[in-house]
Amino acid sequence: MSAMKIKTVWHCSSCGMDSPKWVGKCPSCGEWNTMVEERVSRGPQRTFAPSSAIGSSKPVAVSAIESSSEERIHMPSEELNRVLGGGLVAGSLVLIGGEPGIGKSTLVLQNILSIKSRTILYVSGEESASQIKMRADRIGRPSDNCFIVCETSMERIMEHIESVQPGLLVIDSIQTMASQTLESSAGSVSQVRECAASLLKYAKESGVPVILIGHITKEGSLAGPKVLEHIVDAVLQFEGDSRYMYRILRAIKNRFGNTSDLGIYEMCQRGLREVSNPSEILLSHREDEDLSGMTVGVTLEGMRPFLVEAQALVSTAAYGTPQRSVTGFDSKRLNMLLAVLEKRAGFKLGVKDVFLNIAGGLKVNDPALDLAVASAILSSNIDMAVPQTMCLTGEVGLSGEIRPVTRIEQRINEAARLGMTDIVIPRHNLKGVERDFNIKIHEVSKIEEAVRLLFA
Ligand code: TYD
Ligand code: MG
Repeated sequence: MSAMKIKTVWHCSSCGMDSPKWVGKCPSCGEWNTMVEERVSRGPQRTFAPSSAIGSSKPVAVSAIESSSEERIHMPSEELNRVLGGGLVAGSLVLIGGEPGIGKSTLVLQNILSIKSRTILYVSGEESASQIKMRADRIGRPSDNCFIVCETSMERIMEHIESVQPGLLVIDSIQTMASQTLESSAGSVSQVRECAASLLKYAKESGVPVILIGHITKEGSLAGPKVLEHIVDAVLQFEGDSRYMYRILRAIKNRFGNTSDLGIYEMCQRGLREVSNPSEILLSHREDEDLSGMTVGVTLEGMRPFLVEAQALVSTAAYGTPQRSVTGFDSKRLNMLLAVLEKRAGFKLGVKDVFLNIAGGLKVNDPALDLAVASAILSSNIDMAVPQTMCLTGEVGLSGEIRPVTRIEQRINEAARLGMTDIVIPRHNLKGVERDFNIKIHEVSKIEEAVRLLFA
């Protein structure tokens, strides 16, 4: 008697790689413990169309292809349009990814409720219609042309599409959808791939844009949106610290625009509010007096300059090993800056506890914030305040040199616009640029020079 054999295959839940057997570390993306087992479907094998289909495609010279500008649907949120590269392209498949609870459903719902020009179908696999209604009421926008259906079966969704004939389709979320042709459960790599592929086909054939919402989890229990990255036209990531109210929407991939722009939102009682002036993140928290350990830096996120506050606290280590604690800044970079300050500026920081925080819950990767961070640390260390109306920008190199930063004019203009009176910048950064700024500029080429300027 032969036992029934069930054929299974292993998928990496992070990158989607297939493997015939379990492995601890995915050989493709290098993540640990991401392999999940899935049963292979016994359904009829899908084969490629017969060769008669070949006749429909024909190679064409590039110069002979007619260039047509793609039709774009203007979304109600300007920040969203900006990240999409000027609106939602007809027939495109867009993925909005983010951790659970960050506000993806709110962002999409808020936008589609304000679109009056087309019929929208919102498929929810996560919340009931009354839950969505409650949220819509909270956002405060009734709409007659937005239809909501709670469904998780791909086949039935296609039937609903057939009857509603939407001009925009939203799937919330792709991990809850499942096709009956596959045996594996919703959220598995093969289901996510299969559902996304049929939605892609629908989008391309009908010209209807499709927005997919996808969760990213650290445990890898749901198929990560990485699996989808090469299927979709654009991947937008919604991120932020859920303890703070600010959210950043950035494009990781966009076939119809650049990926350097980003949108900033604030989660309020009544939905998301656009933050068109990001520096308010900083300015709303200002105190009246100058405090030691606080400096203002000019950073650039995407193409937009804005001011952020670096807060540092340096104190004598209470225990043998000094503590280093950082939020919003790279901890390796902090250690590098501490080493530079010790070696080049002569401050004994190796025996001190150092705490660093970027105000507002933002994560900053811009090296131009180095100078502000280093100054905040020194300011706390010697307990001397840097005036609130002074801001700093510059990258600190290993030998203590202050290196030039990108888009210096934009940074200076932003600082001037927000009422700063002084700005410290790298020397020679303004070469060839007309000095017509409404702010006093101090140029430094070494960290020692900056120390003398700030604390002399
Ligand atoms: P949600 O859009 O459900 O997140 P996701 O779809 O990414 O899982 O939003 C989750 C959080 O947003 C929820 O904890 C409550 C908060 N929220 C507000 O603060 N204000 C609002 O107006 C709404 C609708 C949600
Ligand atoms: Mg949601």
